[in-house]
Amino acid sequence: MRLDKFLADTTDLTRSLATKAVKSGRVLVNGVKPKSAAAKVADSDEITLDGERLILQTGYRYILLHKPAGYVCANRGSAHPLVFDLLKGITNRLDMHTVGRLDLDTTGLLLITDDGQWSHHLTSPRHHQPKVYRAWLAEDLCADAEQRCERGILLDDDPVPTKPAQLQRISDREVLLTIHEGRYHQVRRMFAAMGNHVEHLHREQVGEFVLDPNLPVGEFRDLTEAEIALLAGKPVSQ
Ligand code: URA
Repeated sequence: MRLDKFLADTTDLTRSLATKAVKSGRVLVNGVKPKSAAAKVADSDEITLDGERLILQTGYRYILLHKPAGYVCANRGSAHPLVFDLLKGITNRLDMHTVGRLDLDTTGLLLITDDGQWSHHLTSPRHHQPKVYRAWLAEDLCADAEQRCERGILLDDDPVPTKPAQLQRISDREVLLTIHEGRYHQVRRMFAAMGNHVEHLHREQVGEFVLDPNLPVGEFRDLTEAEIALLAGKPVSQ
């Protein structure tokens, strides 16, 4: 592989900025300044930029982020900061995608990967991955909210009721809601249909992935091999 490509793949530099970095002596290959950015490098070479070793990431990335409020689940074109801006140190992060989306002001568990097949397992309606949200409400919950969620709720502009969802009342203004589909603003619209308003929404779980209680807001961690394998090879439910 050419050195400029290696640098572009392992850092946020474009190939032309990588060339400039080589020319200005910031890059060393096995401790030696390379003659040009077109030099060929091998897997075994030790390549540094400003003294820091660069490692070429091979294979897919799987990340669990504790999403803060005010960040948007999009790769570009937003007036708000992107969740990808939080992935400091991850190169080519805009090649990744979020597994489903959380609203701008929703906090909590967000999975991010560049493995489209893996994320499909989590988001496809055929796989029924439950999602658990904690919601704080503006009004006291109506008496029959549990039954209404279980029966299915008609949302505005949608003739098909929601699939049975399980509501656990923590208090009259705090609930845990488990849903089995992912319609646009679904949780907020379910409570709106019951005459309420969600003041804050936080996702705690998607399928078998639970937000680590010790992961600070805005921080992320790589999934473990065991977690990644949780979905791989699972039989498809019909
Ligand atoms: N439902 C919502 O209304 N918002 C989210 O962010 C996720 C689910």
